[in-house]
Amino acid sequence: MQEADLAAVMVNENAAYDFPWSASIMASNQKRHYSIIFESDEGTILGHAILSTVADEASVLNIAVSPLAQRQRIGYQLMENILAHAVDKKCLEVFLEVRESNRPAFTMYHQFGFNEVGLRKNYYPSHQGREDAILLACYL
Ligand SMILES: CC(C)(COP(=O)(O)OP(=O)(O)OC[C@H]1O[C@@H](n2cnc3c(N)ncnc32)[C@H](O)[C@@H]1OP(=O)(O)O)[C@@H](O)C(=O)NCCC(=O)NCCS
Repeated sequence: MQEADLAAVMVNENAAYDFPWSASIMASNQKRHYSIIFESDEGTILGHAILSTVADEASVLNIAVSPLAQRQRIGYQLMENILAHAVDKKCLEVFLEVRESNRPAFTMYHQFGFNEVGLRKNYYPSHQGREDAILLACYL
């Protein structure tokens, strides 16, 4: 992901999440971490993912696909890419948080071997108040 991609990334971010990152949070994460986009053959940005690595641990900070392009294995390919980067960086384990209600994401993460290792009560804002986050981890 380059700075020039941020506007298009934010369109997808806003469409994919009820509670998206702000443009400034996206920009600072793009600068600081490994950040990638998925582009169609026509050059349209359809998805993005951001991974941080610290010592031998990696964290998936964001992964989203435009609702117009979901269920086409784009999220899967973004995951493959960031996990390969974590391996390159000699990480041993990857962590991420996911909303308890987010079945599509859970199903995808289970395909990559993630397991539940913790619970963060009331971690996310939700339309009903707050929602728990499930902490998932996967050994590389
Ligand atoms: C989660 C997300 C990134 C998946 O991206 P995607 O490109 O639609 O997913 P893929 O097509 O690569 O699917 C990979 C696997 O995930 C699972 N999956 C994805 N969407 C699903 C859905 N709506 N229902 C059930 N399983 C789903 C399936 O197991 C699928 O494998 P299959 O194609 O063999 O059935 C996408 O739904 C999204 O952007 N959601 C909103 C943002 C979000 O919640 N991000 C994760 C935050 S933790």
